[in-house]
Amino acid sequence: MNKMTTLFIGFFLTFVSGWLGLVIIPYFQIGQLKPQVNEDTGESYPLVRSGLAERGKVVYEAEGCLYCHTQQLRPIDVDDDHSRGWGPRRTVARDYIYDKPVLLGTMRTGPDLTNIGKRQPNEQWQYIHLYQPQIYTKESIMPPYQYLFTVRKIEGARSPDALDLPAPYAPASGYEVVPTDDARALVAYLKSLDHTYALPEAPLPKD
Ligand code: HEC
Repeated sequence: MNKMTTLFIGFFLTFVSGWLGLVIIPYFQIGQLKPQVNEDTGESYPLVRSGLAERGKVVYEAEGCLYCHTQQLRPIDVDDDHSRGWGPRRTVARDYIYDKPVLLGTMRTGPDLTNIGKRQPNEQWQYIHLYQPQIYTKESIMPPYQYLFTVRKIEGARSPDALDLPAPYAPASGYEVVPTDDARALVAYLKSLDHTYALPEAPLPKD
């Protein structure tokens, strides 16, 4: 066997072992995961997102929320995300079966958002926070997403989802700040983030 053949076999084996380890074995381990159906209630987990929330996921991707927020909770023996108030249990592969692509994230400049829909279901809160995060957290370094909102003249009655902004962010009198379709979709997506149910491989803690 000359040196070129040995080199070629070496490259080939390296490629095959990477392919087996990263594609084929995981495919057999988790590629066939199905939703978990609760026989008593008929509910299926993970919860299926509405069309609006699905569109909001695209806005989340486009706005780069992923660069500062994770959506993955670690097991208690590795790091205690639970006592940070981010969720009752670790996340597992089944939590992500409807996500394409999966938005795990690696940076935690801001809090993990795996269960933000449960932690903060209030739409007004989410809109105002997106409009100007510093209204709630003075030292927040999250960027304001004011371009996801429109300022418009109040015609007749004030819109039901107009933002109740405090001074100095409140619009001039006679005007209102309302979410655009992108902001509505994004908040529907944030509200859909809830993994606080039990799965067989990730039960809820007993306490
Ligand atoms: C530059 C980093 C950065 C980016 C980009 C960013 N955030 Fe944040 N986010 C933060 C920080 C820091 C906080 C904590 C302070 C605060 O509440 O504003 C936070 C807080 C939050 C919270 C409140 C979490 C809680 O537990 O109270 C939500 C919801 C949120 N961000 C959503 C988003 C969304 C949606 C986007 C994209 C449109 C986004 N963030 C983009 C840094 C970021």
